[in-house]
Amino acid sequence: MSSHMLDTDVLVIGSGGAGLSLALRLADHTRVCVVTKVALRETNTLYAQGGISAVLDKKDSWESHIRDTLDAGAGLCNPEVVRFVVSQGKDCIDWLLAHGVPFTEFHTDEGQTHLHLTREGGHTHRRVVHADDATGAALETSLEKHVRNHHNIRILEYHNVIDLITERKRGMPGQRVLGAYALHTLDNRVKTLRARIVVLATGGASKVYLYTSNPDISTGDGIALAWRAGARIANMEFMQFHPTCLYHTQVRSFLISEALRGEGAKLLLPDGSEFMSRFDSRAELAPRDIVARAIDHEMKRLGIDCVYLDISFKPAEFIRQHFPMIYAHCLELGMDITRSPIPVVPAAHFTCGGVLVDINARTDIPGLYAIGEVASTGLHGANRLASNSLLECLVFARLAAEDILREIDQAPMPPALPDWDESRVSDSDEEVVVSHNWDEIRRFMWDYVGIVRTSKRLERAKHRIDMLQSEIAEYYGNFRVTGDLLELRNLATVAELIIRSALGRKESRGLHYTRDYPRTDDSQAPKATILSPSVGQDSAFPPG
Ligand code: SIN
Repeated sequence: MSSHMLDTDVLVIGSGGAGLSLALRLADHTRVCVVTKVALRETNTLYAQGGISAVLDKKDSWESHIRDTLDAGAGLCNPEVVRFVVSQGKDCIDWLLAHGVPFTEFHTDEGQTHLHLTREGGHTHRRVVHADDATGAALETSLEKHVRNHHNIRILEYHNVIDLITERKRGMPGQRVLGAYALHTLDNRVKTLRARIVVLATGGASKVYLYTSNPDISTGDGIALAWRAGARIANMEFMQFHPTCLYHTQVRSFLISEALRGEGAKLLLPDGSEFMSRFDSRAELAPRDIVARAIDHEMKRLGIDCVYLDISFKPAEFIRQHFPMIYAHCLELGMDITRSPIPVVPAAHFTCGGVLVDINARTDIPGLYAIGEVASTGLHGANRLASNSLLECLVFARLAAEDILREIDQAPMPPALPDWDESRVSDSDEEVVVSHNWDEIRRFMWDYVGIVRTSKRLERAKHRIDMLQSEIAEYYGNFRVTGDLLELRNLATVAELIIRSALGRKESRGLHYTRDYPRTDDSQAPKATILSPSVGQDSAFPPG
């Protein structure tokens, strides 16, 4: 057995809400190893502001939450998945409360205490459970404590997964996943991780765009790993742009939560006039695709750098109490949101598509699961409803855990696996190639594959990504891997999948808007876009 081999029963790649809740659900029964490419808590979940949608109010109903989710999803959601996920909202919140997540409460005059519910775009009721305006941080911090203290969970931080190891890649009969190679970026050694079951919980790919609300880690790693291992990928054209990220010359990636609009904030043009009701009767509370496109339209029409989000007409105490983190952060930057509007722009926020999974979170590859933003479960369709993402993470982590515990005794421990082979590569002599290509991808994706697309822009993007892909493949084949090179390779793969999916959709639907086909085309049944590496060509299947 090689000296760098490490064995576990379940290898969880990624440590956000999905990965950590899965690890906790498994660890009393089986050995778990959580591998993450930076520090355990540095995940997309940590930065989630809004909350978790769940039907808790007596006047609310599952039917209403289901309808809102289906409406946002523009005909591409899987209704059975939507119904199931919605029905699990309360259980998920109870599980989080049992793990100490400090959700915001309110006290009635009769002395009762309830969870405070806020509202966001596309929701017809108040149903967003939250911890002030830093829900993800509260969730991640609470789960991290449990994970770090669990004797059956091994944590590998600063380990960047290079590739999955499968029977097919090893030339063995069968398709099963056997483990993964991971680069320890602190000492540049590659470990061989051998596992009965592997779970992708790596989050989304919004870093493929120049402007994003996401932290630097969102490079679509799990989608690229699954694709290279032979799994199908679905609906990648549906990249969600959040309408309101802070516009500031020195600060990037800071979200201004949709909960501000839920509590009445208005979008304004530089002259102080409102504009959203010109685009949708729900105005500021229309689903995100509509609000982001309206802002993009006004910015282009007027040639302005940003629009403004105004909540300053609310009492200052209300603002400080409901949005303490946003208030404090903006104040540090010299903006008092209790007195003046906040400059905002849309930015890439969420990957609605991903690795195609079934209702148990199983991918096409035996032994490989995908949960959270990396997966395409059928919940989001062509556009995700606000605050349905943490809910999806928790529900599919639970479904995956239950399925894994049913399977684990039959799942074989793979045979000894060879060390990572570095005999034919050398250290890179030109790191600039990596940084240049990284910047180039993110810029042309923003310009050509952004909020408003055309066939010509997509063709241009396709041409560029094809060239970059071959350059990156050559570089990867010749030089020792680094964390940056691995992320670049993954970003390029994901960019290609987004472009190919967008080129294949000859209509506008949800988050995919193209000037060449501006209407939704219901003359044919709505189809999910499914890319299949095994047959090497694209195909379309019915939703779900
Ligand atoms: C937000 O707080 O606006 C983001 C919530 C979400 O993405 O669901």
